[in-house]
Amino acid sequence: MTGRPAAGPVVGVVGAGQLARMLAEAATPLGVHLRVLAGDADEGAPEVVPDLVRGAPDDPAALRAFASSVDVVTFDHENVDHGALAALEAEGVAVRPGVATLAFSDKAHQRVAFASAGLPVPDFLVVDPAEPDALDQLIGFAERHGGRLVAKASRGGYDGRGVWMLESDDLEDFLDGYDGAPLVAEPRLDLDLELAVLVARRPGGASATWPVLETVQVGGMCDEVFLPASVTEDLAARAAEVARRVAEVTGAVGVLAVELFVVDGALLVNELAPRVHNSGHLTIEGCATSQFEQHLRAILDWPLGPTDPVAPCAVMVNVVGGPEGDPRDRQASALAQVPEAHLHLYGKRSRPARKIGHVTVLGDEVDEVRRRANLAADLLAGTAPGTAPGVDVAGSVDG
Ligand SMILES: Nc1ncnc2c1ncn2[C@@H]1O[C@H](COP(=O)(O)OP(=O)(O)O)[C@@H](O)[C@H]1O
Ligand SMILES: [Mg+2]
Repeated sequence: MTGRPAAGPVVGVVGAGQLARMLAEAATPLGVHLRVLAGDADEGAPEVVPDLVRGAPDDPAALRAFASSVDVVTFDHENVDHGALAALEAEGVAVRPGVATLAFSDKAHQRVAFASAGLPVPDFLVVDPAEPDALDQLIGFAERHGGRLVAKASRGGYDGRGVWMLESDDLEDFLDGYDGAPLVAEPRLDLDLELAVLVARRPGGASATWPVLETVQVGGMCDEVFLPASVTEDLAARAAEVARRVAEVTGAVGVLAVELFVVDGALLVNELAPRVHNSGHLTIEGCATSQFEQHLRAILDWPLGPTDPVAPCAVMVNVVGGPEGDPRDRQASALAQVPEAHLHLYGKRSRPARKIGHVTVLGDEVDEVRRRANLAADLLAGTAPGTAPGVDVAGSVDG
């Protein structure tokens, strides 16, 4: 179906991953019609979105045809043809966030712009790997920072892919094997903890910020997110203020997620994602308005909703694919042991290191809620003790 619904706005989402899927879940009760531009990859949205247009998000012709059939264009991911989008924007198409904000998905652009706006960022150096002195520049930077650095591909990385922890001695081999986008080098920091702040912003600048979240990464990939974060009120307020500044500097419309490092008690902006984000999934059940509903309201220029938590604590744990078959065969056993868990499975095939779902648990005491959420996620992933294939842990699911 690509016609127009009888009433109400049509939101077009470029890309068909789990973020598009969860936007669709939020659109239905609002009476917002969602249309998704989907490539041919195995992704999360096609299973649940009836109005699916097939086409590559990086194909200008597909993008143009898609944009002409919707009221506002938004994104599941940033791997979109920015030139084609800029042309559409210039013709008056509502592209939200706009191309200037999407340009901030480039980590080098972020760092340079944030540093010049006076936002706190780690020390950094942007290095073009094609420059003849690229190796010397990286070695010089590493030597100034204890003989090691973190190199990040400025574009195309996610879930720790595109982030390399390197020693001076590794740099020559690393550069020999790297032919990607410019690199951002930064010191390897001793992190006290990591935070995320989500902000929603309307076209006129009105914004709403959710409570600061604490995030836990494993192997560079987000594993767990919870609130309340274990920070002082003062640090939480400063984190929210930094995130609001980031939203202004980037001119964001819709939801954006700001990842922060805490080092020796001080905040540094790690990166920003100009869209709904994994760190905000717990807002679906844990806050008065979810990031997905709020994103739709923001890009439609509708009033924003309250962001307060609805429980003393909320924990989200990602379900990552493993060798143990499909998590859809294990929902019932996970719910038997953790009946209060909110399960979200994305309908994607399970592959090692692939996010295939998440679990959120609300409750009163953060350590206990973390334990319960992790148990549910492990049961789904098939990695909890006693959940090898063929072992039935279901208990009395029916009774
Ligand atoms: N300079 C650093 N020092 C220490 N750890 C880092 C540094 N940069 C990144 N990391 C770790 O790697 C994770 C992923 O890095 P990030 O730049 O956020 O990449 P991605 O785009 O994959 O999320 C971070 O959340 C953090 O845990
Ligand atoms: Mg990150």
